[in-house]
Amino acid sequence: MKKVLMTVAVAVSAGLAGGVVLAQDPALKKCMGCHDMDKKKVGPSFKDVAAKNKGNKDAATAIVAKMKDGKGHPKVAGTDDELKAAVAAALK
Ligand code: HEC
Repeated sequence: MKKVLMTVAVAVSAGLAGGVVLAQDPALKKCMGCHDMDKKKVGPSFKDVAAKNKGNKDAATAIVAKMKDGKGHPKVAGTDDELKAAVAAALK
């Protein structure tokens, strides 16, 4: 049992460090089923999206609103803060 707990602890810390390896913000976890950083999947890559919205400081607010309504973007579950953090990370 102790060994199992150890393994879980190691896996969890490796998971946290994994964000660095993938250069991916943990806030984006729930988005990656449809998005990738630099490849088109179901949705556009975050690289393209960031380039497209560059200089538009209202973009993040508008996209969060779309996600909440499920209009113009598939509905994504999450609190305002979660979605804001995720969109901010996507547009970085
Ligand atoms: C169910 C699939 C799905 C999930 C989950 C998803 N997206 Fe998307 N996303 C899309 C699709 C499809 C589009 C293209 C929508 C369009 O332009 O019609 C898109 C577009 C976008 C855009 C570009 C919008 C614009 O107007 O420039 C951003 C930014 C974005 N997604 C961020 C996110 C973030 C952040 C998350 C996680 C919180 C997320 N997405 C989760 C499918 C998804």
